[in-house]
Amino acid sequence: MKHPSASPVIASFAKLNLYLQVLGRRQDGFHDLSTLFARIDLADRLIFKPRKDNLIKIVCSNPAVPQNKSNLVYRAAALLKQEYKLSAGIEIEINKVIPVGAGLGGGSANAATALVELNRIWNLNLSKTQLVRLGAKLGSDIPFFIHQVKFALGTERGDKIKPLISLNKLKLHFILVYPDLKVSTPLIYREFDVFLSANRNFSGLTRAAHNVKILISGLLKKGQAFSSGYLFNSLEVITCSLYPVVKQVKKALCDMGLDKVMMSGSGPVVFAFCDSRQQAQTLCGRLRKQYKSWQFFVVSTV
Ligand code: C5P
Repeated sequence: MKHPSASPVIASFAKLNLYLQVLGRRQDGFHDLSTLFARIDLADRLIFKPRKDNLIKIVCSNPAVPQNKSNLVYRAAALLKQEYKLSAGIEIEINKVIPVGAGLGGGSANAATALVELNRIWNLNLSKTQLVRLGAKLGSDIPFFIHQVKFALGTERGDKIKPLISLNKLKLHFILVYPDLKVSTPLIYREFDVFLSANRNFSGLTRAAHNVKILISGLLKKGQAFSSGYLFNSLEVITCSLYPVVKQVKKALCDMGLDKVMMSGSGPVVFAFCDSRQQAQTLCGRLRKQYKSWQFFVVSTV
């Protein structure tokens, strides 16, 4: 039985972008998007321990995660304290499983978990709408995680969320491949802008053959068996040209006979649709033997 005073341990799930069309650069420097988010069962664990003083302390053993004020979880706690003039203190331990700088939204997921959990611990009674508004100040992906849904459509900066309840029964299975490489999202968007301004007549990055609605209806009707041509990510060409290893990862997955293979977010993680968790595990075993320097994960939507 759980001890009544035990600190809560909360799972913080990652996401994949099954579709990511960059529509154009905005006045504020961000980009308008049309994206399909899927929540997956790859999760960090966050432990919340109230402190007697009024400090925020972040504890994380992964050296890629900052433990100072720049950490998104620290910033989420600080934002709540500042907005609601709280004198509370909290220690948040982050047990990292989600690769960092990978295109899986790990940092954003952790910040969303912190907002939702601190709302409860500090008895703030904030609504989902209020939490989403605060989350969007910290990062474009955070509102998706605050909604706590399996699938959602993201528009504007990716922060305007429409949960896709019609896909709730759908369970998708993937192999994820992480070539040990941290990618900076701002860099990829900057390079995207540079590429577009140098290639004004080239619309391949912004214009998808099929819009996101076609992918959603394909998933609804056919589950995993929709056409691979429905997948699209505007940022993939940019990340692949900066980091050719991402192209090698894609090829390795295609060589296994997988056809629905794409990068998530700004990368470098590449995902491949599999027919079942069993198939994903079998293929993953083979890939692990062949490509020793990459990390592999078998995940499902959750
Ligand atoms: O919102 P977030 O902090 O996660 O974004 C990181 C960076 O990615 C931004 O500073 C911006 O350079 C870029 N970005 C963008 N358009 C978006 C989302 C992110 O240009 N819709």
